[in-house]
Amino acid sequence: MSTPQIDFPRLASSLLRLGGPNETLAGVTARGAFPAAMVGGALHVPLATGGTARYANLDYASSAPCLAVVRDAIDQLLPWYGSVHRGAGFVSNVMNEAYSAARDVVHTFVGARDDDTVIFTRNTTDALSLLASAVPDGAKVFTFTAEHHANLLPWRARAHHVDLGVPRTRDDALARAEEALRRARGADRVLSVTGASNVTGELWPIAELAEIAHRYGARIVVDAAQLAPHVPIDMARTNLDYVALSGHKMYAPFGAGALIGRGDWLDRADPHLAGGGAVKRVGADSVEWLTGPSRHEGGTPNVVGAVALAAACTALGELGHEAASRYENALLDRLLSGLRMLGAEPLALWGPHTKRIGLVSFNLSGFDPGALAAALSAEFGIGVRAGAFCAHPLMDALAPKASQASAYGAVRASVGLGTRFEDVERLLTALETLREDGPACPYRLDAGRWVVEGDARVVPAMVSRSRRGVSPPEPSCR
Ligand SMILES: Cc1ncc(COP(=O)(O)O)c(C=O)c1O
Repeated sequence: MSTPQIDFPRLASSLLRLGGPNETLAGVTARGAFPAAMVGGALHVPLATGGTARYANLDYASSAPCLAVVRDAIDQLLPWYGSVHRGAGFVSNVMNEAYSAARDVVHTFVGARDDDTVIFTRNTTDALSLLASAVPDGAKVFTFTAEHHANLLPWRARAHHVDLGVPRTRDDALARAEEALRRARGADRVLSVTGASNVTGELWPIAELAEIAHRYGARIVVDAAQLAPHVPIDMARTNLDYVALSGHKMYAPFGAGALIGRGDWLDRADPHLAGGGAVKRVGADSVEWLTGPSRHEGGTPNVVGAVALAAACTALGELGHEAASRYENALLDRLLSGLRMLGAEPLALWGPHTKRIGLVSFNLSGFDPGALAAALSAEFGIGVRAGAFCAHPLMDALAPKASQASAYGAVRASVGLGTRFEDVERLLTALETLREDGPACPYRLDAGRWVVEGDARVVPAMVSRSRRGVSPPEPSCR
């Protein structure tokens, strides 16, 4: 029997390549690729006032839409779908190769050191939770109060956690970290910090913090959930020990994230998911765990999610950081200046001149943030997020609670590579209209969420539960 001459690395990398057989994103970019093509980029949504509008997605920081080229990569993979790991069929070889290739792509994307481990996780929360449980007992862990709950709660649960508070300048952040690490010499120490705030968009000085951490023999963890879609990461050069990220914020669909970093503590830690795939040998009363990523990836892995994440990494690399950040900064500048004209001052920890990613949180005088976000959706077809963005302690410091619990927080508009300038203009015009004329629909709080009274919009039948077959009520909006 002759052995088929298959070049697996090439096959796997072609699965991860973008677009048609002869087209790369670099070629598309050269022809002016921004806004980048997104799945659902031309979606129309119903308005409570009647009719529809093209959906203006200004909620990239929560979950970015899927890049069309990432969908293409998934489409190329799915016909090869089959069991992974120990399957003997040919498609299992393809799955295994695609999964390994995806790991390599993520490793390169963050500029990891040769011996760094890439563990596929569900998301950033999962990655940070895994790491927090792997840090040796007795280690001292330092976080700022300004973190997303994902980078706060797993660390707070440890025995030796030090809260560094909310720094009011960049230098203050460096000074607080330095002072705390200097005093805490001795035990294992870990500083875990966000790369970019999901509330203010401000970029944190991770290179300087890494330098300080290492000066005092500590390790640094970067929560890159918001950083990775916007700013290139070079772990080796910046000397970052660990990075956590989420595919769904980087233009891949939900389901896969990664923890990248030093393998020693991870190889000694209890497995994140005990079960098949994580073990070498199980006896009647004994178990020998694997080391490396498999130790923490028990069960059947999310190969499609990993390949989608890798395809998104490849796409971001090929789109080019400079061109992408020029585009995003132009969107951001317009958003910031427009909001200021409306008197909606963007929330900031460190003042208006700090560099930030394309994300702005604000309040409009006279509006509950939840009600404002509901009106932008119902009356204008604009998607933003409202609330405290899973960063309650930071929001407490930035936007003190109003008398009603529901008024707590802010509205967040966030942009990315598929955002059109027209979407930003639509938001600014809608805010002006709401400020001048008030909402056209009646709103009420329903279990903590603002809804339109007698909302006439129906969700598509494929996802509908209660509304299937029910005729919509008459719109009650003017
Ligand atoms: C800064 C930051 N860290 C962590 C997370 C958690 O990400 P995920 O929900 O994908 O686990 C988020 C999500 O919004 C975030 O913005």
